[in-house]
Amino acid sequence: MAKSGTTEASAKTEASALEVTDTRSGEKHSFPITDGSIRATDLKKIPSGDEDGGGLVSYDPAFLNTAACRSSITYIDGDKGILRYRGYPIEQLAERANFLEVAWLLRHGELPDQKEYDSFVHDITYHTYVHENIRKFLEGFRYDAHPMAMLNSAVAALASFYPDSRNIFDPDQRNISMIRLLAKVPTIAAFSYRHVKGLPFVYPDNDLSYVENFLSMVARMSEPKYEANPVFVRALEILFILHADHEQNCSTSAVRAVGSSHVDPFSAMSAGIAALFGPLHGGANEAVLRMIGEIGHPKNVPAFIEEVKGGKGQRLMGFGHRVYKSYDPRATIVKKLADDVFKIVGMDKDLEIALELERIALSDEYFVSRKLYPNVDFYTGLIYRSMAFPTEFFTVLFAIARMSGWLAQWEEMLLDKEQKIARPRQIYTGPVERDYTSRLAPPKVGPRVAKKDALRQ
Ligand code: CMC
Repeated sequence: MAKSGTTEASAKTEASALEVTDTRSGEKHSFPITDGSIRATDLKKIPSGDEDGGGLVSYDPAFLNTAACRSSITYIDGDKGILRYRGYPIEQLAERANFLEVAWLLRHGELPDQKEYDSFVHDITYHTYVHENIRKFLEGFRYDAHPMAMLNSAVAALASFYPDSRNIFDPDQRNISMIRLLAKVPTIAAFSYRHVKGLPFVYPDNDLSYVENFLSMVARMSEPKYEANPVFVRALEILFILHADHEQNCSTSAVRAVGSSHVDPFSAMSAGIAALFGPLHGGANEAVLRMIGEIGHPKNVPAFIEEVKGGKGQRLMGFGHRVYKSYDPRATIVKKLADDVFKIVGMDKDLEIALELERIALSDEYFVSRKLYPNVDFYTGLIYRSMAFPTEFFTVLFAIARMSGWLAQWEEMLLDKEQKIARPRQIYTGPVERDYTSRLAPPKVGPRVAKKDALRQ
């Protein structure tokens, strides 16, 4: 979790140090504390005591308490339920900003002025088209391909269309790659949708806004101009803003780790998409809807909750968060948004099941004591579904939004002089050295070899 890096806070901690005594040797060690952290590499000074003669390492599976970077992009206070992009509260951005403004903010650190915004929107709009071979590439997928698999592959494939993007330390190349990714991902996402539906692809309409154009590519049929429902447009804009960044989560860490090898940005972003696909991360909104489908009726909710509490591996999807332990501020905004959308589309059985799940879980000791509250994904799936997006497409919508955060984090990592190729340590638990003795049957020398030799003549 990020600490707010104010000069005042840094000054207070500069003189502080952590004093520890190694009880094995009685030696004392002092580690400077800066910004609420000690350097894990300082621990190397203390001998591990292992026969390899190395220094002590910190052991932190799943990075529960390890800061891997300094970042000025997103601030989260999980206990207080705070989320800010570049200092701006998520509530204000969701209410008043638009997605491209937020994408600019995440990368550049300040909101764009009118000139910067107009030029950014122009550039994004100009690059929405994809090479026809990307279209053909997408057509090669099976009729039932998961759109996240299609999106991931197509984004990785873009690296082959833009070989100059490998010059990641050229600011112009970085800029055009970032524009291309933001511009083309909605097009690829929409093409994936149309492919699975067996519908003809709709090309970008550059008269429309980012979100309207995306909806047009998804939903337009024979009408010459697609006009989206303004409530849906605003809902999607807000959902994109809420999902734009979330500091060092699984997919962002994947982008940073893969990007730290200095690979091109298309390959690094495809690593982020792959991580997001998982049901414990971006795939959770899809998993919520599947879970609701399995529950089937509001009357089955209590039995389902008991099953979850039974601890047989079943989880209440859309509940709990690694960082938020009081509430997820995004969930509060999304719940309000859900009310607006449901006013248009009406209540249905699935929504009733969701509300019943929420009601019971929020008053049940198991969930309360573990600080398990609805997270952003609990409601987003319901909104997407009421907008008629198929369940498999939910994580794709998340990926479109998160691309802006991944790109900002990727560039910050590249320009950070302290960063090197990501390479965690391990604690080896395997066998000690032993000699090789084959356990296979001895190779047969027989007619197959002779026949092959005969063919060579
Ligand atoms: N349902 C039931 N029990 C749960 C749940 C849940 N959703 N989440 C955590 N627990 C229990 C868990 O079994 C453990 O209990 P115990 O202490 O008795 O062993 C305790 O709560 C702590 O869980 P944890 O696994 O240590 O928590 P974590 O921080 O590692 O996991 C999480 C965070 C989000 C992966 C997890 O809460 C989860 O699997 N939630 C469901 C999936 C989900 O909704 N994911 C979307 C996250 S928000 C979008 C994003 O940022 O990606």
